[in-house]
Amino acid sequence: MKKAKRKNTKATHGPKILDGKKIGEEIKAELKVKIEELKEKGVVPGLAVVLVGDNPASKVYVSNKRKTCEELGIRSFAYDLPKTTTEDELITLIKELNANPEVHGILVQSPIEGRDIDEDKIIELIEPNKDVDGFHPINKGRLLNGQDCFVACTPAGIVELLIRYGYRPEGKHVVIVGRSNIVGKPLATLLVQKSEWGNATVTVCHTRTRNLSTITKSADILVAAIGQPEFITGRMVKEGCVVVDVGVNRVEDPSRKSGYRLVGDVHFDSVAKKARAITPVPGGVGPMTIAMLMKNTVKSAEKYLLSREK
Ligand code: GUN
Repeated sequence: MKKAKRKNTKATHGPKILDGKKIGEEIKAELKVKIEELKEKGVVPGLAVVLVGDNPASKVYVSNKRKTCEELGIRSFAYDLPKTTTEDELITLIKELNANPEVHGILVQSPIEGRDIDEDKIIELIEPNKDVDGFHPINKGRLLNGQDCFVACTPAGIVELLIRYGYRPEGKHVVIVGRSNIVGKPLATLLVQKSEWGNATVTVCHTRTRNLSTITKSADILVAAIGQPEFITGRMVKEGCVVVDVGVNRVEDPSRKSGYRLVGDVHFDSVAKKARAITPVPGGVGPMTIAMLMKNTVKSAEKYLLSREK
């Protein structure tokens, strides 16, 4: 008699999906309570979001930030300026916002598309106590020193996501691929701090790094922030690593109505076969960035209230 073929009943466990949308919702629910408390004390948190030009990706980001403000009861001050905006015009606006007591956070979306506008100059003009993006050199310096400050929202969101899922960076080798001022550098600074959410051993890789795969393969936690679609493949990661994908890249896809789809800097399917946990794109780091922006705005409003009560 022929042996009956045994069914393959082996469970195939995929990696844990680090759901930034879900955790972002949790954080927003926590913030709503704080916002109500602030309102009861006469302070409505306010965030000014300035967009110069019409970069399509920036428009989407800015619209999401403003919508989230509305959802939480944060007052949104919206400035959509044309590409023809001059540096002097933008400087005048920043000074007005610095002086406005109803504005607790100021964000100028990068890249700034105006006429020959020096982005660094604009950022340095923002009052550091309202720099909820954490881009001002004073906040960056304070972060380096381990002092209280506004931390850039994407790095802060990554750390928050890891911790809320129980992947504490302490003692781990974290490899960050990408050395941008917005993600790679502040994230490395955050993770090496002597603190409950830091204490990691950090390696930052970039375009001139030799033997990149050897280094990425040694990562317990790998953060991809390169800006190149699906750059990190399964062959570049260690079995059981935790992978955070910061990339948001549009790639052509004629099967979609929009003509494109979003992919990260990580080749999801091949990396997911080896990773213990991984963030999706979209729905991973993106919603965490927005949640941290709201958190920083509420923190700023709370500080404002304290200073008023003194
Ligand atoms: N452009 C891309 N990410 C960001 C961000 O977090 N803040 C600002 N201001 N601009 C960006």
